[in-house]
Amino acid sequence: MCGIVGYFGNREAAPLLIEGLSKLEYRGYDSAGVAIIENGEIEVTKCKGRLKNLENKLEESPIHGMVGIGHTRWATHGQPSDVNSHPHSNKEQTISVVHNGIIENYIELREWLTSEGYEFKSQTDTEVIPNLVDYFYEGDLLKAVIKATKKMEGSYAIGVIAKNEPDKLVAVRKDSPLIVGIGKEESFIASDIPAVLAQTRDVYLLEDREFVILTKEGVKIVDSNENAIEKEVYKVTWDADAAEKGGYEHFMLKEIHEQPKAIKDTMTSRIVKGQPIKLDDITITKEEIKKLNKVYIVACGTAYHAGVVGKYVIEKLARIPVEVDIASEFKYRDPIIDENSLMIIISQSGETADTMSALRLAKEKGARVIAVTNVVGSTASREADDVLYTWAGPEIAVASTKAYVTQLIAMYIIALFFAQNKETVSNEKLEEIKEEMLALPEKVEKAFECKEAIEKMTAETVNEKDMFFLGRGLDYAVALEGSLKLKEISYIHSEAYAAGELKHGPIALIEEGTVVVALGTQEELFDKTVSNVQEVVSRGAKVYAIAKEGHREVEKTANSAIYVPRVMDLLAPVVTVIPLQLFSYYMSIAKGCDVDKPRNLAKSVTVE
Ligand code: G6P
Repeated sequence: MCGIVGYFGNREAAPLLIEGLSKLEYRGYDSAGVAIIENGEIEVTKCKGRLKNLENKLEESPIHGMVGIGHTRWATHGQPSDVNSHPHSNKEQTISVVHNGIIENYIELREWLTSEGYEFKSQTDTEVIPNLVDYFYEGDLLKAVIKATKKMEGSYAIGVIAKNEPDKLVAVRKDSPLIVGIGKEESFIASDIPAVLAQTRDVYLLEDREFVILTKEGVKIVDSNENAIEKEVYKVTWDADAAEKGGYEHFMLKEIHEQPKAIKDTMTSRIVKGQPIKLDDITITKEEIKKLNKVYIVACGTAYHAGVVGKYVIEKLARIPVEVDIASEFKYRDPIIDENSLMIIISQSGETADTMSALRLAKEKGARVIAVTNVVGSTASREADDVLYTWAGPEIAVASTKAYVTQLIAMYIIALFFAQNKETVSNEKLEEIKEEMLALPEKVEKAFECKEAIEKMTAETVNEKDMFFLGRGLDYAVALEGSLKLKEISYIHSEAYAAGELKHGPIALIEEGTVVVALGTQEELFDKTVSNVQEVVSRGAKVYAIAKEGHREVEKTANSAIYVPRVMDLLAPVVTVIPLQLFSYYMSIAKGCDVDKPRNLAKSVTVE
């Protein structure tokens, strides 16, 4: 995790670094810092807490200089504190480094450097890097960085500056994202595009072990033998406003409201009425699809919940067995995967370390991998055999909303594409599903009408300490996501249960007044879900039911009902999740939490 930035040019570095970091706070916000070369010396300012603290410190004692690096941290090694904040430097402060990733062999390197007379102040893994660079430094920063990286194991995107070469910034990545922004007589490095977007739309998307050198001459990229690498400039086409709040109080609310558009964009040219589904970026053939013996969907967090929906729909439509796995568990259970298996990884960022490990393992075993990701040029998009982009646009709030619904759309697209190739569903049925999908943006827009009912539900439940989310089938998959959203941003403990499983244990926790959110949008399972609701109501639970419009009979059993627009059962998750997203949002506000930056979390988890 963590976000890094760097600036080289002829403007004051500090405000540009701060601006860049403000766009990367979604990657972590435990502490922030900058190192800038001022009058031939490296000056470092860093502190625990949000970026605002750093800004205040810099206002009190500004640093003037035109070359600098900056960092926003999500703590892994060493608690959030001033001393563990980045940038880290060697003792003499002649080399400073910002780092995103984990140096796995840092203990060994630290011991060795200590025996060579180096001293360490922090508990971080990162602190070995400036000391290693110093150890190898013989008047050429690039050479020293290349040598240092040969000793470093793990993942890193680093930006390095040196007192003795004040007109240079060196950066490199391995398994952590890094881009270069190309401006006029200035250049930038950053973990992600939004950090440079206010300054330039021309970027290089760096590959692993490409070293970039920013100097007055511009940007140079070389390999570890210092051979020049020619790269294509990637022109960012999306609007800078996409990464701004645009009048909304929080990114999360803005992103919730962007869902109709995100769904539409993700379907464009893929789901077309009366035409077979064509997926330009997917090269898997009809024969290969027919041969598939197993599909593994692997992901983390919200993306995993999209995968649970994926399992239901791929099995139902394409009749291929699907296993859905949490990425951090997948690798260590020695999965049975071979060249006839397909792995679908789902990752908004395309950088999540556990998900990437699963991808690599599948490839090692000869399986084909399709990446469903939202970030063009991300590690997932580069390492997978095929990519299906979700066109959600940049998602900034840590709690995922629009990325989730577009991941659902991606699952439907893949399921329909397989069904079309395997001929497991009639053309009429395929057309019917596609037509309903095309109406989803409108239906989601309509689902926002539940806002008042949700605000009322929030007011009634704001003091609860625990809640349950119940559902069967696809409703269970959505219950998982609703429960996660609530936990993430309002810190209320909640559990999602398959409604039928409740009586095998958790029902013991139901007592007078326990809040249960029951999802009942699956027609076939509706009566069974209602029976489960009755079971909890008779034990004193206070039930809020979510059902499709027209199902007013739920009001007889539940204490309150919230209705979502009618769509076929298969597509219901796309509308059912809307009231749950809004519930977590209003609850977070009611409890005075930081909606977009919940405690202890980060949007992009690039450590295992
Ligand atoms: C973090 C985020 C979640 C996200 C998960 C997977 O935990 O806070 O919102 O769902 O990572 O991220 P990915 O980028 O792989 O979808």
